[in-house]
Amino acid sequence: MNTENTHESRPARRLPIRPRRLRTTAAMRSLVAETTVSAKHLILPAFVRSGQNGPQEIGTLPGQYRHSLDSVRRLAAQCAEAGIGGIDLFGIPLPEEKDACGSPARDPQGILNRAIAAVREEVGDALVVCADTCLDEFTDHGHCGVTDENGVVDNDKTVALYAEMAVSQAQAGAHMVSPSGMMDGQVAAIREALDENGFTDVSVMAYSAKYASAFFGPFREAVDCCLKGDRKTYQQDPANRREGIREALLDIAEGADIVMVKPASHYLDVVCELAGQSPISVAAYQVSGEYSMVEAAAQRGWIDRERAVRESLTAITRAGADIILTYWALEYAQTMQA
Ligand code: PBG
Repeated sequence: MNTENTHESRPARRLPIRPRRLRTTAAMRSLVAETTVSAKHLILPAFVRSGQNGPQEIGTLPGQYRHSLDSVRRLAAQCAEAGIGGIDLFGIPLPEEKDACGSPARDPQGILNRAIAAVREEVGDALVVCADTCLDEFTDHGHCGVTDENGVVDNDKTVALYAEMAVSQAQAGAHMVSPSGMMDGQVAAIREALDENGFTDVSVMAYSAKYASAFFGPFREAVDCCLKGDRKTYQQDPANRREGIREALLDIAEGADIVMVKPASHYLDVVCELAGQSPISVAAYQVSGEYSMVEAAAQRGWIDRERAVRESLTAITRAGADIILTYWALEYAQTMQA
């Protein structure tokens, strides 16, 4: 017997279990793929600015735009046509419109409420029209709420303003409001105000586990945020996983319809754990920094952009997210979906 050949002639006996068999062809790999990212579960965040004339590209978010009312309508129509799940609208008032309590956020003629109405008129129910329910774009100090004489954000006064803001968004036609300010009790207050005003069918997507993240940087530039300092007294410490689950469970108890983890990619443990416990859908927000890092590396030829986008969305889905907010939502639906 030729002992030298033993290894080649009897491979099956020695190694019957070969995971590589399921990777032999593209068809085989596709057959056994455990995770599929489908466009209908994606939401596109979009920015609308007061006094804007047509779309203007955002320097820190290449491929994303500050829209006018007309151009956001066209964008929303494209989203509906492409079959994504929803659009999440952010308003950017002019600097001179901002004040200490973020008044344009609650004004029916404020930029965000006008955008909601315009988009809703354009798409009807073809798309879930969602609105960011937070004050940071509207306050002259840039915090997500009103501050006391020491500059500390006052939780309960802020929550009352969020409730008013949510009602104004529902009046403008939002299907869903999404409180992102991390104030205690915000979901309960918004639910109660919506119900009292007859908007029992308007849903609440709660930014439940939102971390004080450096990856929001490009967004702050995009919305002309005035913040000096940080949000560490209301957004969570990136060190804390249990606390993220606690926040989400509280939001569920307060009546949230969807809970969210934000950012997504660096918090997949939180997404995964929450997905295992939550009786309602879990969303994850792939934030501006996650987007811009890939775009910037791709511009330099350092990374394969499309593969990186697909992989990041797959990873977030694999971790357990049912819904993903991503700046790539429309493009993914149009050209990247397998
Ligand atoms: C607050 C809000 C922020 C983002 C969404 N909602 C910014 C912040 O908390 O500073 C960040 C989104 C992103 O980075 O893409 N209204």
